Amino acid sequence: MSESPIIVVKIGGSTLGSHDTTLEDLVALQREGWRPVVVHGGGMTISEWLNSRAIPTRFVRGLRVTDAESLRVVLAVLAGLINKELVAAISALGGKAIGLSGADGGLVRVRQLDPELGYVGQIERVDGDMLVALLDAGYLPVVAPLGILWENQRLRSQILNINADTVAGELAFALAARWLLFLTDVAGISGSDGSSLARLSGQEAAALIEQGTVSGGMIPKVEACLRASEGDTRTAIIDGRQPHALLAAVQRGEFPGTIIAAGEEGP
Ligand SMILES: Nc1ncnc2c1ncn2[C@@H]1O[C@H](COP(=O)(O)OP(=O)(O)OP(=O)(O)O)[C@@H](O)[C@H]1O
Ligand SMILES: [Mg+2]
Repeated sequence: MSESPIIVVKIGGSTLGSHDTTLEDLVALQREGWRPVVVHGGGMTISEWLNSRAIPTRFVRGLRVTDAESLRVVLAVLAGLINKELVAAISALGGKAIGLSGADGGLVRVRQLDPELGYVGQIERVDGDMLVALLDAGYLPVVAPLGILWENQRLRSQILNINADTVAGELAFALAARWLLFLTDVAGISGSDGSSLARLSGQEAAALIEQGTVSGGMIPKVEACLRASEGDTRTAIIDGRQPHALLAAVQRGEFPGTIIAAGEEGP
């Protein structure tokens, strides 16, 4: 079995399709012998599709309330359109990509998070065996953030929507990844004075959420970093708009963004 380190990379919807260099970097990392796993979002495209079908959408605590009709769109957009476009783009760059969702192979098993949110999953268990088999066969898995209902130790015929950041954190933890990296549309985490923070301890990161300095879409990223840091995974939030930020982070540990090191005490 290959021992090359696993890197879980979450690509934000906000940087997706903006012709950035992330996909090139992923292919380069795969060539160098790393084992990258991609988790993608797609919130913007889902909202566009829901709007064009006049399906109302609302968010509670940053999570999309997902009724049965919305779920069909979420599934079609995430596991279909976005997932397959990413696979095609990586393949065209010479990468060996394979697209799947968290519902495939029982990868991400969930229960319903909160009836108020509808078909939104809370991750109960990750079974990463299939991903490891794909990685060892030289594939770059591209994972759509969906889960399959897991009740009384059995899989049920129900797919649920999950926040992509949360999926990335749980996969990184389950796979004991070397890195969990979030590519997003800001230069890392800003502190209360608005300046970018290069490094945060777990305590500091949790305090920024508590104070409301970290809000909205940044909350699940920070929580995912804290989760993955329970193992030996190094975590960071990176400015995906900067060319080759992903390569710089993995190869040199230098990048525009914030490292969250939960194991460390504050300064
Ligand atoms: N303290 C903070 N520092 C930096 N950004 C913050 C902070 N608090 C909240 N944010 C917001 O978090 C956003 C990033 O999360 P967002 O969910 O919008 O992007 P994404 O997850 O990369 O994309 P998507 O959700 O479309 O997949 C930033 O654009 C910013 O508005
Ligand atoms: Mg987001």
